[in-house]
Amino acid sequence: MFDFSGKVLFLTGANGGITRAIAKTFFELGASCVLTDLDEDGVRDFAKSLDASGSRAIGLRQDAAKSGDADNAMAEAKDRFGKIDYLVTGAGLYRDQMIHDMTDAQWHQTIGINLDGVFYTCRAAIPLLAEGGSIVNIASMAGHRGSFMHTHYASAKGAVLTFSRSLALELAPRIRVNAVSPGLIETPLVQPLLAARGPSLIELTPLKRLGQPEEVAHTVAYLCSDWASFITGETIHVNGGLYIAS
Ligand SMILES: NC(=O)c1ccc[n+]([C@@H]2O[C@H](COP(=O)([O-])OP(=O)(O)OC[C@H]3O[C@@H](n4cnc5c(N)ncnc54)[C@H](O)[C@@H]3O)[C@@H](O)[C@H]2O)c1
Repeated sequence: MFDFSGKVLFLTGANGGITRAIAKTFFELGASCVLTDLDEDGVRDFAKSLDASGSRAIGLRQDAAKSGDADNAMAEAKDRFGKIDYLVTGAGLYRDQMIHDMTDAQWHQTIGINLDGVFYTCRAAIPLLAEGGSIVNIASMAGHRGSFMHTHYASAKGAVLTFSRSLALELAPRIRVNAVSPGLIETPLVQPLLAARGPSLIELTPLKRLGQPEEVAHTVAYLCSDWASFITGETIHVNGGLYIAS
């Protein structure tokens, strides 16, 4: 088990399926948690469920697509905890939209949350990140392969991979930057996909099941830990083998 006592996690999109598991994992390992989400009431309630006293977990509103929200949330994190050790960008939007009738607004909304949001949050965090800190951006298998009906999402996630590698060069040797690419993980985000193609996708997956949010969370914790001290600019896939099999 890793010991994150005295460390501070900043996590975006923190009221989601995977992200709640990340917050719980880090909290249980001893970290203080700054949890942000568009869903302000939801993320505040979730933070309270982790820590009713509010001394080690706080929930804040942050629309990932707005640079000012990233700056405000970081300012609040600084006031409360003085620094950040681990930054995890988890906010994501995954909508079924064919490109032939995709509107400008739909394109920009998905790119705004999944790509611009990573830029805004990482940029705002840099002055606060403590030496030896770690950034993990949540990308997706879609960013490596492409994804039918998700051109905007796959484009954003592919860019997050190259963004992470480029940032790793800029922040070395003080801060490590990596990405995690989940495959099919059982959360609300992929319910429409599971309803349409769940059984066939599970059959195609060598490990014959969906991933669980905790399995992504454990990978993120590993990348933030000292056990990953020589890993930067890399991506770890968490997909039960679906990527190599399909
Ligand atoms: N679930 C999967 O199978 C899967 C696969 C690959 C990648 N991912 C990625 O993992 C991350 C977490 O996904 P999840 O499955 O937990 O999703 P989820 O839908 O359960 O949670 C997403 C969270 O993002 C928040 N959010 C939406 N728009 C936002 C905005 N504008 N600003 C801030 N927060 C916003 C939502 O309120 C929600 O709490 C996402 O980046 C997603 O793209 C998930």
